[in-house]
Amino acid sequence: MYLEKNQQVIWQQKSKLCSSDEEFIIPLHLNKVILIGRDANKCNLVIKNPMVSSVHAIVWAIKFDNHTPALIYIRDNSTNGVLINGNLIGKNNTRMLFGNDSIDLRGGIIMKVSTSTSTSTFSHPLITIGKWEISNNLVGQGTFGSVYIANKTEENSLFAVKHIKPSQERVRVSEREKERFKAEAELLLSVNHTHIIRVHEAIVSNNELYIFQDLVCGGDLFSYLVSGDRIAAIPEIETIVIIFQILKALEFLHNTLNIIHRDLKLDNILLEAPLPFTRIYICDFGIAKKLGNISQRCKTMVGTVEYSAPEIFSNHYNSQGYTSKCDIWSLGIICHIMLSGVSPFYSDKSNDEMINKASLGTLNFELLQFQGVSNKAKCFIKSLIQIMPEDRPNIEECFNINWIKLNRDLLDRVYKEKVLGSYGY
Ligand SMILES: Nc1ncnc2c1ncn2[C@@H]1O[C@H](COP(=O)(O)OP(=O)(O)OP(=O)(O)O)[C@@H](O)[C@H]1O
Ligand SMILES: [Mg+2]
Repeated sequence: MYLEKNQQVIWQQKSKLCSSDEEFIIPLHLNKVILIGRDANKCNLVIKNPMVSSVHAIVWAIKFDNHTPALIYIRDNSTNGVLINGNLIGKNNTRMLFGNDSIDLRGGIIMKVSTSTSTSTFSHPLITIGKWEISNNLVGQGTFGSVYIANKTEENSLFAVKHIKPSQERVRVSEREKERFKAEAELLLSVNHTHIIRVHEAIVSNNELYIFQDLVCGGDLFSYLVSGDRIAAIPEIETIVIIFQILKALEFLHNTLNIIHRDLKLDNILLEAPLPFTRIYICDFGIAKKLGNISQRCKTMVGTVEYSAPEIFSNHYNSQGYTSKCDIWSLGIICHIMLSGVSPFYSDKSNDEMINKASLGTLNFELLQFQGVSNKAKCFIKSLIQIMPEDRPNIEECFNINWIKLNRDLLDRVYKEKVLGSYGY
């Protein structure tokens, strides 16, 4: 997917190294990062200057959907630093770029961002709530909320804010919505985990609800997999590293906090950067449930049908409730989509059809899309997507399935060096 013409982002480089003062234009494409640095084998823009690191900076554009303008980010990967309008970003930190921003790559290399979209800066925040300024830069949208870029007045860093308005037919937020909101905020305010979105404050103002959280700049897993007008598979090594991180997050949620997420899906997994082996964060705890203990069951029908375990809709289980095994099913669906590009029970006709397909639980690994996927990976999916929740592994057992267990040394290494490190550049 390319940026439409009027949304194309252009860079202009005026470098002292250039013999003439000629303009150097780099168009940015969605889902493609641009590496800037000295190493000609790795970088799309090569700068032969000893002040510049082999990969000095990484730039990318993210668009939530076709209706929202692209947001541009830069990550500092350098030894000597990158300055945006004179302010140092700091190694391994990411900043958002706005039109006319000047990027100093050191060594006399100054680049300028030029964009025809109306990405405004914080000089004109839309509203201010407490110590927060909220812009009109949309980073995402879901059934319940719209997520915008926010700024904390005393700090020079950006955040995300999920804004929940009363539904259109009503002017007031219902007590139920407020309860849901309070629950989401309270759950998250107390959670501190490497792979779970960090929430800083929750505010109700003018009958509207705001949850301020860390901004995760690489888009969600859904956008990462979008290629043209379809979802495309990613390599098995990339998939397993993402699954490994989700397992770590679920281990903490299920075992330490007794929380069931209940809405695990591609859209609710955020990426630090749109790169292989990046760090992921689980977001959207809008319908998560804290249980007294993890074997307790819940009874409300919630979640996104395409990813929902059959017991959520079954009469038998409705009388008994369902457990954290519903997250294990959704993880199986996520893994199936990442490895093949195919959502196993998806139907564009109706929810009922999806529910029927899921209740049969038939998987087809003979699909062309599964050629090249290892048997271990297929077995992993098969054991997670089992109709009877008691047949599915719990989170510890997931770590013991061969696909994960036999790759554990590799996973631990990639996790330490790339996921928590700097992608090995
Ligand atoms: N902290 C964040 N940083 C960057 N992007 C975010 C952040 N939180 C959410 N998003 C983006 O916004 C989208 C919607 O946010 P969220 O899932 O919280 O809303 P929702 O209305 O509860 O969604 P759903 O329809 O899944 O219930 C996400 O899919 C993601 O793309
Ligand atoms: Mg969501």
